[in-house]
Amino acid sequence: MEDIVIKAENLKKWFPVKAGFLSSLLSKRQLFVRAVDDVSFQIKKKEIFGLAGESGSGKTTTGRLLVRLIEPTSGKVYFKGKEITSLKEDEMKLLRRHMQIIFQDPYESLNPRITVGDIVAEPVRLLKGATPAEVNEVVRQTLEDVELTPPEEFILRYPHELSGGQRQRVAVARAFAVNPEFIVADEPVSMLDVSIRAEILKLMISLVQKYEASFLYITHDLALSRHMCDRLAIMYLGKIVEMSDTEKIVYEPLHPYTKALIEAVPEPDPTAKRIETVIKGEIPSPINPPPGCRFHTRCPAYIGDICRKKEPPLMNIGKNHYVACHLYGKEK
Ligand SMILES: Nc1ncnc2c1ncn2[C@@H]1O[C@H](COP(=O)(O)OP(=O)(O)OP(=O)(O)O)[C@@H](O)[C@H]1O
Ligand code: SF4
Ligand SMILES: [Mg+2]
Repeated sequence: MEDIVIKAENLKKWFPVKAGFLSSLLSKRQLFVRAVDDVSFQIKKKEIFGLAGESGSGKTTTGRLLVRLIEPTSGKVYFKGKEITSLKEDEMKLLRRHMQIIFQDPYESLNPRITVGDIVAEPVRLLKGATPAEVNEVVRQTLEDVELTPPEEFILRYPHELSGGQRQRVAVARAFAVNPEFIVADEPVSMLDVSIRAEILKLMISLVQKYEASFLYITHDLALSRHMCDRLAIMYLGKIVEMSDTEKIVYEPLHPYTKALIEAVPEPDPTAKRIETVIKGEIPSPINPPPGCRFHTRCPAYIGDICRKKEPPLMNIGKNHYVACHLYGKEK
C-alpha cells in the first residue's frame, strides 16, 4: 500500500444560512451554503498537494475539515488509515500534534504578547515528557531550520519586532517544531511582499522533505503553485473539477475551468488575461449552485442540454488524471 497520510472521502460541509425575519416568513425551507460538496482525495507522505480555485470555492473549508477544526456535514477523514471524523475530542487531542496549520496572516496568527522562543516552544511543551532542555534544543533547531539565525538573536524578540517574512518563518517553525505528519498551509504567502514569497515557499518545500511530512497547500495563485506542488486539485463551487500531477494540470489541462484559470495565470506571460476576461460572469452563489454541471453558466465549451441536466462525475480518465466534464470519456 502507498504511504497515504490523509484521505478525504465524500466530504461535505453545508453551512446553514441564518435567515432574516422577512425571508424566514416567506420560506420555511432551511437554506445552506454548500461550501464543500462531496470532495475526495488523498495525500501521500512527503507529498505537496495543492488546492486551487477562485475565492469562495471551498478551499479553506476543506483544509479546516481535514484537521477537524470544523465537523463535516457528512463524509469521512482518515489519518494514516484511521477514521478520525468520529473520534471524541480527547482521542482527537492526542492526534492534533500530528496535524498543524499555517494561516495566511502572520500578523494575526502569532500571539503578540509572547516571545518567538515561547511561540515555537508552546506546542513542544505539550509533548509528553519533554524536559525544558529538550524543548530549548527543539526551538533552537527549528529556528535554524527556518533560517532565523542565529536562533539566540530571535528567541527573545516579540512578533512586532519582526518583518512579515520573518513572522511567517516563525509560524512555519511553530508548525514543524512538533514534527507533524500533516500540515495545512492556507494561502501562507499571499499577505507577504511579492519579492519574498518564492523563498518562503522554497523553505516549506525543503522542510516537507526534511520532516517527511505531507502538505496541503491552499492557494488561488496557480503561478506559484506550479513550482510548489506535486499534484493539484482545482475546486469550483465546492467540488473538485480536475485533479492530477501538477505538470498535467499546467501543461495539459482538460476541464474548461482549469483551462481558463491557466490562461489567466500572469506568469510567464505578462500579457495574460484576467480570469474575468477569460470566462464570463461571476461565480454563482454556493447557496443555490447551478444544476447539472456547476460550471455550465460560465463555460466557454458548453455542449448542450447534458451540461445543464446531468452532473458530470469526477472520473479517472487515465494515469490518475481526474476530470469532471461531459467532454471526456468513460471511467477507467
Ligand atoms: N462559517 C461559515 N458560515 C457560513 N458560510 C461560510 C463559513 N465559512 C465559509 N463559508 C462560505 O463557504 C464558501 C466557501 O468558503 P471558503 O472560505 O472555504 O472558500 P475559499 O476557497 O477558501 O475562498 P478564499 O479564496 O476567499 O479564501 C463561501 O461561500 C463562504 O462564504
Ligand atoms: S460538463 Fe459541459 S458545462 Fe461543464 S465543464 Fe464540461 S462542457 Fe462545460
Ligand atoms: Mg480561503
